[in-house]
Amino acid sequence: MQANDTPLFYIGKTEAFGEQFDAWTDRPLLQSMEQGGVSWPSSCRAGNCRTCIGKLVSGTVRYEMEWPGLLPEEKEEGYVLPCVAHPCSDVVLSEGY
Ligand code: FES
Repeated sequence: MQANDTPLFYIGKTEAFGEQFDAWTDRPLLQSMEQGGVSWPSSCRAGNCRTCIGKLVSGTVRYEMEWPGLLPEEKEEGYVLPCVAHPCSDVVLSEGY
């Protein structure tokens, strides 16, 4: 593997407990949180049920699916679905709606 094949990661944090995790760009935030020992609610893990919903306190994400289960207004307000959201920067997340 060459150096530029290595996936990038950013720093992820949860607002409530200040837990920190490596937020890999090649996988959803939920997966990175779980790998980092951060407990976060989830169910469908497919961007549909909204169990994992949270709000971006800071940072940006992208989605590989076209229509994650969020309204455009919710996206504008910073709500994210970590089970399908990939980080584009360091992120701080707060849990819940
Ligand atoms: S776990 Fe269902 S939308 Fe994220």
